Amino acid sequence: MALPRHAFFRGRVVPYSEARVGVLTHALNYGTGVFAGIRAYWSAEQQELFVFRPRDHFQRFVESARLLDMTLPESVETLTEALVRLLRAELYREDCYARPLAFYADESIGVRLHNLTPAVSIVAIPYGRYVDNDESIHATISSWRRIDDTMIPPRGKIAGAYVNSAFAKTDAQRAGFDEAIVLNQDGHVSEASAANFFLVKNDSAVTPPVTDNVLEGITRRTVMELLRKELGVPVFERSIDRTEITLADEVFLCGTGVQVAAITRVDHRPIGSGRMGPAVAALRELYFDIVRGRRAGYDHWRHPVYAEAPAPARDGADRASTTS
Ligand SMILES: Cc1ncc(COP(=O)(O)O)c(C=O)c1O
Repeated sequence: MALPRHAFFRGRVVPYSEARVGVLTHALNYGTGVFAGIRAYWSAEQQELFVFRPRDHFQRFVESARLLDMTLPESVETLTEALVRLLRAELYREDCYARPLAFYADESIGVRLHNLTPAVSIVAIPYGRYVDNDESIHATISSWRRIDDTMIPPRGKIAGAYVNSAFAKTDAQRAGFDEAIVLNQDGHVSEASAANFFLVKNDSAVTPPVTDNVLEGITRRTVMELLRKELGVPVFERSIDRTEITLADEVFLCGTGVQVAAITRVDHRPIGSGRMGPAVAALRELYFDIVRGRRAGYDHWRHPVYAEAPAPARDGADRASTTS
């Protein structure tokens, strides 16, 4: 992966090489950081880079920080402006992914959340697909259970908690699957390693409630609204039994990374017809039209990066983008 040229680090946009921490940094040793993942989509027609729902992502970022007793020096508005400044400095004319991180920066020994000082960084890199086969994912039910709210709060993106996701993902991939579906402590479906879970049955969609230890995904919220308002599909938030997956008509994941991706087999059993179904196909088309600015009525979700300053010209054609 090519490194970015810049970083927003401790309040300023600096060369990436200057955004450094020492090995004693608290968050590096104890996982006491929170992060966000935000996509920006390049529109060649409009010569514009659209950041998708940055304020919602930064709102959750600030709330994730609060879970760790952190009061950030930056507000949601300041963070959004910092991200736009960073993307402009990078001169990106392609799809990218931004990674804000708030971390306890103290270089000291001692497990705790109090008497520590947070710092914030943001970097952005060019980014295409997170999964190659997002129309036909083969998933397994993980033997790992999702972290519980009595252990590490799952509703926020807490860095240390991602060791749980990493176990699930690596074991699934080493066993030949693309992705892991993780159950919660009760044995109900929680989510995938880094994406929220939906199934479709009898023309209704079902997703686990936030109290089933899911991350409160921005894409989850987006998808629920689109299913209800645009596609006329009712959505129910309720606990899901493992065997409901086997009998579902369609299953899909959503998240900033995977975007909207169809699961077509789980543990060698086909879901529905074994191919991406009509609801997921319609949702994907709608989602990509919205994030790329091809559909009116969703300006409130898209934050243009070059609105006030024209997009930079680059030699040659735009670099091909790998997302739909
Ligand atoms: C564990 C987990 N669940 C769900 C999601 C989806 O959240 P969002 O749609 O806000 O990206 C993510 C992040 O991408 C995640 O890390």
